[in-house]
Amino acid sequence: MKAIVVTDQAAGTAGMKLVERPEPQPSINDVVVQVYASGFVNTELGWPSTWTDRLDRDRTPSIPGHELAGVVTAIGYGTTGLSVGQRVFGLTDWYRDGTLAEYAAVEARNLAPLPGDVDFTVGASVAISGLTAWQGLVVHGRVLAGQRVIAHGAAGAVGSMVTQLARELGAYVIGSGRAADRQSALDFGAHEFVNLETDVLEDVGGVDLVFDVIGGDIGKRSAGLIRAGGTLVSVVGPPEARPADGLAVDFVVESDRAQLSEIVQRVQDGRLRTNIGNVSTLDDAVAAFNRTERRKGKRIIRVRP
Ligand SMILES: NC(=O)c1ccc[n+]([C@@H]2O[C@H](COP(=O)([O-])OP(=O)(O)OC[C@H]3O[C@@H](n4cnc5c(N)ncnc54)[C@H](OP(=O)(O)O)[C@@H]3O)[C@@H](O)[C@H]2O)c1
Repeated sequence: MKAIVVTDQAAGTAGMKLVERPEPQPSINDVVVQVYASGFVNTELGWPSTWTDRLDRDRTPSIPGHELAGVVTAIGYGTTGLSVGQRVFGLTDWYRDGTLAEYAAVEARNLAPLPGDVDFTVGASVAISGLTAWQGLVVHGRVLAGQRVIAHGAAGAVGSMVTQLARELGAYVIGSGRAADRQSALDFGAHEFVNLETDVLEDVGGVDLVFDVIGGDIGKRSAGLIRAGGTLVSVVGPPEARPADGLAVDFVVESDRAQLSEIVQRVQDGRLRTNIGNVSTLDDAVAAFNRTERRKGKRIIRVRP
């Protein structure tokens, strides 16, 4: 099969190569998915799991990409819940070969059925960003109607999902980002927008929840905005500062079939709008990854037409 591999961490996306690899075989509880669309998170080549296994041994050449939508072509020993020919979407293990490939082996529990009226490209685009937003707001942040929420990077892949879900859950949403992101953040449902390049973040006042996708100085200053009992939720590692009288949570998204279904239902009924930026074919993906213009939204690789 065709697949994109990486072997050299220092090379970044310039080190990606389109090669031939053996098709994966399904292990116990796995399915093999013929990949129609694959998603790529822009920071993946910085994740240790892209380069080493769980025992810290080199696992290159590794195939990046950890979200997909496609069709089940084989099931492993003991696998239940999914069948050959079924449309699915979801996440793959960080430490296994990923989805920038024509086929991927995935534990069945990490996938959910993809309804026939949801395009593969759309399915792949909401798997990681939709689930991350859901888990940060609902599971870890326990957001409530009427609360004030800052959605950092509100025009980005995760931030646009946070903005929409927080709004649907009844929160007052303050989106943040660069000047060019204002309209996009408001279109995703932010009640107001903070331009992190020129506005003073602290002028926003107290909030109940900050969803941080940026970290660094923005993350640190955000901790000071959390009201008593509120939560700083970070998806960019442990927060460098904690709220004086609130919680700080950092987490890595986990696949969850029921939550994937919640996400895709919202896509189907129009409550959740996907945020697709660049779409390329597998053949063109390496060149697309290496373009220098500013990225907007989720990067999708349409592996099969
Ligand atoms: N822990 C987890 O489970 C998890 C899951 C998904 C993603 N993540 C992480 O979350 C982060 C965001 O992912 P994503 O896919 O949403 O990326 P993305 O689509 O690039 O979104 C990030 C947004 O934030 C903006 N931004 C970043 N730094 C900024 C700054 N200093 N001032 C103003 N705006 C800024 C970006 O603008 P520019 O592009 O112009 O910088 C972009 O619009 C990544 O670090 C990713 O690794 C973690």
